[in-house]
Amino acid sequence: MAKKTTLKLVHSAEPTPAKSAHQEEVIDPAFLQRVITEGVIHGDAQAMLPRLPRASVDLFFTSPPYADARAYSRIHPDRYVEWFLPFARSMYDAAKPTGSLIINIKNRVANRGPLKGQRHPYVYQLVLALQNMGWRWVETYIWSKPNAVPGKFGPRTKDSFEYVFHFARAARPYFDLNAIRVPYKADASEIARRKLDKLGRRSTEAGFGRDRTKTYLLGGADPGNVVSVSQTYNQHRGVAHTAAMPEGLAEFFVKAACPPDGIVIDPFAGGATTVVVSRRLGRESGGFELHESFVAEGLRRIAEDVADDTPGQLVNGVGF
Ligand SMILES: C[S@@+](CC[C@H](N)C(=O)[O-])C[C@H]1O[C@@H](n2cnc3c(N)ncnc32)[C@H](O)[C@@H]1O
Repeated sequence: MAKKTTLKLVHSAEPTPAKSAHQEEVIDPAFLQRVITEGVIHGDAQAMLPRLPRASVDLFFTSPPYADARAYSRIHPDRYVEWFLPFARSMYDAAKPTGSLIINIKNRVANRGPLKGQRHPYVYQLVLALQNMGWRWVETYIWSKPNAVPGKFGPRTKDSFEYVFHFARAARPYFDLNAIRVPYKADASEIARRKLDKLGRRSTEAGFGRDRTKTYLLGGADPGNVVSVSQTYNQHRGVAHTAAMPEGLAEFFVKAACPPDGIVIDPFAGGATTVVVSRRLGRESGGFELHESFVAEGLRRIAEDVADDTPGQLVNGVGF
């Protein structure tokens, strides 16, 4: 789907702290401010994340490299959980008590080993490992991609969805459903009628129902946990990131899970979609990126702040 990008795997521009990941001494109070000011810091998130102050970040929103998928990081699915856990540990330490970790990740088919030809379970293994670590598994969203590219995929259809897992640091994470409501499907006159309907409670044969009169006082419908956003293929004008996410996906989760004056960090920033969208929505935001060419692309996009696709675009009249 994307232009070929020649990747230079460079060593981190930032020095790796001498102390191990979770020791208090490496935490640098000015570092968070620097990340937010610069936008994208060139370096390995494994070294950068432990430098964030404890309980300082409202939302980690990220799409990490998927197992084995891209030239920029080949992580075998059998070792994916082991690879990811140190990042998750550091994000846990840096998240506010109301903070969240939201991860966009995709299944893959095993291309070797005993599971060859089957779906590899690494995504589910990761979810369980994060839950065991203490991250509270709040919700599983399906990012539905109405424009997924067709091809030959053996005894299966094309992949037209990806997962987005919401984890929270504690029992009461920040979550603003009102910020992501979508237009009601019923037209204005029908809504007006239902609002006045004294017998608005609609019972089903199974014996339960919902009070529709109250639903229509909320200003919009709950979008549900299937988030329909077209994949972006325009590759953000010029320098291509081979796995950029659409801005509408970031918009949905930033609005829902980060307070309007909050801080969003993307440890695998890529072309900085999370940072660009978060800043546009008034949040403070920055991230880390291992590859120099992507850092340059991200900084350019942040400086330009031009929408590359339509954030919040309605697909088929519903969803985000
Ligand atoms: C799926 S891409 C993120 C794309 C991004 N959401 C966007 O819209 O452009 C994952 C990114 O993580 C970067 N990456 C991989 N390992 C990393 C690490 N240890 N530290 C920082 N970045 C890393 C890769 O270079 C890649 O750009």
